[in-house]
Amino acid sequence: MIKSLIPVLVGTSLVMTGCSNNNNNDDDDNNASTTCTGTAVEAERLFLQQLSSDSVIIKWRGNVDGEAEASSVCFGTDMAALPAGSKTDATVTATGHSEVLLSGLEPQTTYYYSVGGAGVADEAHHFRTAPVTGELPADGNTRIWIVGDSGVGGTGKPESGYVRDGFMNWAENQGNEPADLFLMLGDNAYDQGTDMEHQSAVFDVYTEVLATTPVWPTIGNHEMGSLGGSTASSPNDYTVLGDGANGGPDPAPDSPMPYLNIFTLPADAEVGGLPSGTEQYYSFDYANVHIVSLDSQLAIRDNDSRAAMMQWLKDDLMSNNLDWTIVIYHHPPYTKGSHDSDSELFGIDQPIFTIREEFTPIFEQYGVDVAYAGHSHIYERSYYINGHTGLSETFDAQTMAELNDMDMPASGQGDEAYTQIARNGLDDKVVYTVAGNGGKVTTTTEGFPHPANIFSQLELGSVVIDVDESRLEASFVDVNGTVLDSFVITR
Ligand SMILES: [Fe+2]
Ligand SMILES: [Fe+2]
Repeated sequence: MIKSLIPVLVGTSLVMTGCSNNNNNDDDDNNASTTCTGTAVEAERLFLQQLSSDSVIIKWRGNVDGEAEASSVCFGTDMAALPAGSKTDATVTATGHSEVLLSGLEPQTTYYYSVGGAGVADEAHHFRTAPVTGELPADGNTRIWIVGDSGVGGTGKPESGYVRDGFMNWAENQGNEPADLFLMLGDNAYDQGTDMEHQSAVFDVYTEVLATTPVWPTIGNHEMGSLGGSTASSPNDYTVLGDGANGGPDPAPDSPMPYLNIFTLPADAEVGGLPSGTEQYYSFDYANVHIVSLDSQLAIRDNDSRAAMMQWLKDDLMSNNLDWTIVIYHHPPYTKGSHDSDSELFGIDQPIFTIREEFTPIFEQYGVDVAYAGHSHIYERSYYINGHTGLSETFDAQTMAELNDMDMPASGQGDEAYTQIARNGLDDKVVYTVAGNGGKVTTTTEGFPHPANIFSQLELGSVVIDVDESRLEASFVDVNGTVLDSFVITR
């Protein structure tokens, strides 16, 4: 049972934990009742944030019945009897999102919850707390599901729904182990990242996953509106072009950028890592894995902001001593898909160059194992490489890639699996993957395939990473649940 069941009223504590620009506590509903006698409400959007070994944030908005929104949560380990004392009232933000922070939880424990504060819950509403940082999950394996550029939404079943089902089919055939973490690589809501587009492309597509699995996003160009063409470096410059049929900037005092209002991200190292001081980029730990989400759309375009993000990244990676390190961001350094990493595209794709020239050396120097981007609507996976900071024509496999026994670039498969400490005795190589194929695949560009990439395919799908103490396996799963590419890193 719960050792210390401490429902935390989030009024001030959440303000301190990274969403101060998002919360307007003028609408707290401090229901005097402390018993779980409410009615379960099916929220229009419901998702988990910042899950750690002893806490989680449950966030929601709306009521599909069109009636009153839920104002509290009850939770416990027995879904048939949620303890009366677990009732926790929500804080409501200026954009109408309700959130509760549950803390004092036990690690690696499954809790059930009721949005609306009923005394019972169901299987669809649960979360499992993380292992204590550094320890392995009870089953030894952490499963991470990654989708990129999935934001197609719309009526009927969107392409992203087929990608989702492909992953589900694969997982079902693999013993039905659910994902522990759900990562989104940006362009999560086309075309302009409005609140309504997030509803259609995120909450209406991944409904079941989001109710049980914490989601960790990164910012794509479409999150800044402007039909994806923004070169601004501040979220205050969020702009909707066209008729604004899918909404516009969010109201003050919140950020005008819906992404920052919807997600509650750990600016203050609430889930491990070092404090970034901004929700635009952050890091966190899960078991023996350290994960970093960079802002390749906004912060990267301003010299001072970029310098701050780079320094934070170095400090964060240097302070990390977990077994595995994963980095996500939107703009891919090596791609010949719908975007070309040899073109800045009038400045819109400048971050592709900046990531390649200024950030890949940091990844390689500070022990990152794998890096994931979207933006190009394709799947592309690199060799295990180091030092490729130039245009594609400068890629030299003999000096930049891990080689096999025949001095050819190693595949990462079978007896050519990569080792965290490469053959040169250094932990200095990274596999770079583009997985912008989560909602659409479009075109390739001149020079396809990029020479740094061993596998490039215009095929819908997503990525699954399974990681234990000594082995990381990353798989590209298509809409049929078939693995089309995979590689292994051992340590
Ligand atoms: Fe995209
Ligand atoms: Fe993009």
